[in-house]
Amino acid sequence: MSGDKPRILITSAIPYINGIKHLGNLVGSQLPADLYARYMRGRGHEVLFLCATDEHGTPAELAAAKAGKPVAEYCAEMWAVQDELGRGFGLSFDHFGRSSSSQNKALTQHFADRLDQAGLIREVSQTQMYSKADGRFLPDRYIEGTCPNCGFEDARGDQCDNCTKQLDPVDLINPRSTISGSTDLEMRETKHLFLRQSAMKDQLDAWIDSKTDWPVLTTSIAKKWLHDGDGLQDRGITRDLDWGVPVAKGGAPWPGMEGKVFYVWFDAPIEYIACAQEWVDAGKGADWARWWRTDKGAQDVRYVQFMGKDNVPFHTLSFPSTILGSGEPWKLVDYIKSFNYLNYDGGQFSTSRGRGVFMDQALEILPADYWRWWLLSNAPESSDAEFTWEQFQAGVNKDLADVLGNFVSRITKFCRSKFGEAVPEGGALTEAGAALIAELETRVRAYESHMDAMDVRKSAAELRAIWVAGNEFLQSAAPWSSFKTDPETAAADTRLALNLIPFYAVLSAPFIPNTSQRMLEAMGAENTVWPDGVSEALHALPAGHAFTVPEVLFAKITDDERDAWAERFAGVRD
Ligand code: 2FM
Ligand code: ZN
Repeated sequence: MSGDKPRILITSAIPYINGIKHLGNLVGSQLPADLYARYMRGRGHEVLFLCATDEHGTPAELAAAKAGKPVAEYCAEMWAVQDELGRGFGLSFDHFGRSSSSQNKALTQHFADRLDQAGLIREVSQTQMYSKADGRFLPDRYIEGTCPNCGFEDARGDQCDNCTKQLDPVDLINPRSTISGSTDLEMRETKHLFLRQSAMKDQLDAWIDSKTDWPVLTTSIAKKWLHDGDGLQDRGITRDLDWGVPVAKGGAPWPGMEGKVFYVWFDAPIEYIACAQEWVDAGKGADWARWWRTDKGAQDVRYVQFMGKDNVPFHTLSFPSTILGSGEPWKLVDYIKSFNYLNYDGGQFSTSRGRGVFMDQALEILPADYWRWWLLSNAPESSDAEFTWEQFQAGVNKDLADVLGNFVSRITKFCRSKFGEAVPEGGALTEAGAALIAELETRVRAYESHMDAMDVRKSAAELRAIWVAGNEFLQSAAPWSSFKTDPETAAADTRLALNLIPFYAVLSAPFIPNTSQRMLEAMGAENTVWPDGVSEALHALPAGHAFTVPEVLFAKITDDERDAWAERFAGVRD
């Protein structure tokens, strides 16, 4: 239980429903969010960790059409696939919701109504591409054509994949419908709702200025959008689509907005709140308001969001506009941890082009902890990072197999052969043992401060150093030598080294939860509390305590495997 420690609300950016996510997506939000959630639980905080699928918008409609399925059916199936893969990777969400939930629909309509009452919504008449062949307007990705910026012929209506420029469908040269391929398009007048973000600019500016501890990546993106060019723009929050939250207020259709839905980026972040309601409605929690309403207890909550850098404007400006503009006491985010991109072997991971390793494929070839460790220890924090098979092999073999795995195997096997499968008796803490404890005391505090700060790479480096310290201790204490001349010393050093296993398991659980569990089981360790005092933790297993030698924790990746995988994943997935 939490005692006087603050409660921690954690959300990961909610992945689009259209298809299985690649490792770049995973390391940009869900995985580091899970690391932090597991760590905070380990430190005794009460945590609510939420994620969901982002189900609305053109990508979902197009993917469903491609799969030949009704969009609702497609989304339900893909939610189940993503849910299963999330479990496979050990993502410890308290609830994995859906932005298409009835809770989100009601809440999205509620927010729009509140914003309207506050005078923050205006109607805008626009000209938009209309396809006569398809009998509909063509928003965003329903239209493709030549990029006016770089000449790329398959640019999408919302963005050019080649030069990344953000586009408006009406900018495209030689536009065509992606539904029918028809070029019989015309501009027609249509009305849309706009959120008057510009009216909230000063409030947002002051709020962001107050966040002096935020990562530079987060604040620099927010500031750019606030101040570049004409400053913060009002934003269209409705679309001419069938699939989405219908535009309505007070339970009745919004006059003039018939047949339209809210833009996916309007309802997606609201799902963070709706997800907590889904969590309660699923019988997993009793009270969502104490996490989300500052008049109902959420003033004591620390709320942390995780996301890739492309999501930052929506979380620093758009969603806060929704929250602040509602005039209601909703919890605002306290800290935004954002990530750069992970690239794949000399290029980009790409969902649309099937380039890179995807979550299902990754789990087919290796257990989750191998991926978790490598991805987190190479998280794209200060700059973009790159996945290569050589570096993956090197990281796994060195850190996991040679350092941690080898340590556990060596000491348990040595003890079994000389003392039997129980923690040996005799001897007192040696000088080398005392030095190890002192070193670990410092290192564990450093590890905690990196984890508290969400410095993922630094945390991984410190954890690795903690493992290395154990290996070096074993190497220099060499109980296999001292056993011959001084069995008491050998027993004391072996006892300490065996105690390092559950100690490592608890510290490492946020990174490699499955292996940690195996380490604890092998050692028959029941006390899994965080080692606030290193010395005490390293005396937890008393002499005589039985253990078993675990199976190999991490198998090394061979050169043949590495080459075969590199080749298998060189092309695009079918
Ligand atoms: O970039 C993405 O994958 C989006 N689906 C993230 C949405 S996060 C939030 F706002 F819901
Ligand atoms: Zn372009």
